[in-house]
Amino acid sequence: MKITVIGSGYVGLVSGICFAKLGHEVACIDKDAKKISSLNSGMIPIFEPGLKEVLDEVVAAKKISFSTDLNQALNGSQAVFIAVGTPQDEDGSADLSYVLAAAKEIAELSTSYKLVITKSTVPAGTGAKVKKLISATNPTLDFAVASNPEFLREGAALDDFMNPDRIVIGVEDEKSQKILAEIYAKFPQEKLVVSDIITAELIKYASNSFLAAKISFINEMADLCEIIGGDIKKLSKAIGLDSRIGEKFLNPGPGFGGSCFPKDIMAILNVAKENKVELSLINSVITSNSQRKIKMAQKISDALGGQVSGKKIALLGLAFKANTDDIRYSPAIVIAKELAKSGAKISAHDFEAIENSKRELAEFKNIEFFSDVYEAMKDVDLIVIATEWNQYKSLNFSQVFCKKILDLRNLFDAEKMKDLGLDYSFIGQKH
Ligand SMILES: NC(=O)c1ccc[n+]([C@@H]2O[C@H](COP(=O)([O-])OP(=O)(O)OC[C@H]3O[C@@H](n4cnc5c(N)ncnc54)[C@H](O)[C@@H]3O)[C@@H](O)[C@H]2O)c1
Repeated sequence: MKITVIGSGYVGLVSGICFAKLGHEVACIDKDAKKISSLNSGMIPIFEPGLKEVLDEVVAAKKISFSTDLNQALNGSQAVFIAVGTPQDEDGSADLSYVLAAAKEIAELSTSYKLVITKSTVPAGTGAKVKKLISATNPTLDFAVASNPEFLREGAALDDFMNPDRIVIGVEDEKSQKILAEIYAKFPQEKLVVSDIITAELIKYASNSFLAAKISFINEMADLCEIIGGDIKKLSKAIGLDSRIGEKFLNPGPGFGGSCFPKDIMAILNVAKENKVELSLINSVITSNSQRKIKMAQKISDALGGQVSGKKIALLGLAFKANTDDIRYSPAIVIAKELAKSGAKISAHDFEAIENSKRELAEFKNIEFFSDVYEAMKDVDLIVIATEWNQYKSLNFSQVFCKKILDLRNLFDAEKMKDLGLDYSFIGQKH
């Protein structure tokens, strides 16, 4: 099937490449001409393991094209996915301006039937807004709207897209359902959850809110263990073995970040507020998580005897999680800013996120960036692990002068670290 994907960021690009891999003919559109030109020269503007190889394959098979020209792409495409950003607006709501602008462009340029599918994460009710806008812009256009929220995780995006736990499809009529079923025909059909549009839109927010709550829950359990004792790793493992709970998202850490959880939770709270529904549980997740990042900076200060001014700290990891260069709402970035404001000297390292971090932290002259992790750990008073990059697990600390390590991701076995003569502390360790 001919498919157009508007927005070639994390979601649009991965979706477009995967649709092409599934055999569809895909036109990926972005208004960012630089992004399109780099994609046309075979370069991927984001770091996503395995994506480049599949891109090369679908480009060679002539299954994908990249352009800024929506008009040409729409020609012959029945299915148009909107995968543009929905950043957080000042009042916490989702900024729908990009989604609505894309919908308007589709309406203005289309001359034949279109199924307009929102893949961006949008608040319940957006499908109706998109429908109204398209009708008003082009009253004679034959079209339908649908919702197909995306659940991929950065860093594992290809695998998540090609092996989804479920594919959610929100539709209003049979034709839309048939088109979407054809797009996803190569997936086991029992993975398809077909609903109305509002439910599909809500499912995405509910999933992210639940996962964020799970992270905050285990972080609070770690706080309790730090005061009364108890082994947080065993606790996580044991509760995760309960099939009603599940083992994932039970590793305590510096709080959640990224481009999705923080903004999606704010957006669902905003929808609830507008509709006078109280979501006190989700509200407290936001509070707990924002306090957590600041608490981590305090923890680092405590590890240095309560004073960070003039101290040298190696901050290992800047991305909000491993296997991405994304630093949006990254706990490590919040921590870096807090420490830098308090006068610490920071040697920051990351495997992929240095360029993004340099831009975000440009105002802090006391933050230096290192691409060599051992260089970052030279002559420091404390090593802090802030992102769970797997490569940190194989660091050879015998090569490093500083023996004091604060692990905010619980990457290491505390006993083994002690045996190596290291002064190692972790999240959930009794004070
Ligand atoms: N990043 C994730 O892991 C993830 C996962 C699931 C869902 N989502 C959701 O998917 C959506 C997109 O997120 P993202 O991370 O891919 O965003 P992104 O910022 O990486 O990419 C959005 C792209 O859309 C382009 N764009 C905006 N308006 C356009 C227009 N009118 N025409 C053409 N291109 C346009 C931008 O130039 C940009 O390249 C968001 O709603 C997000 O919440 C993201």
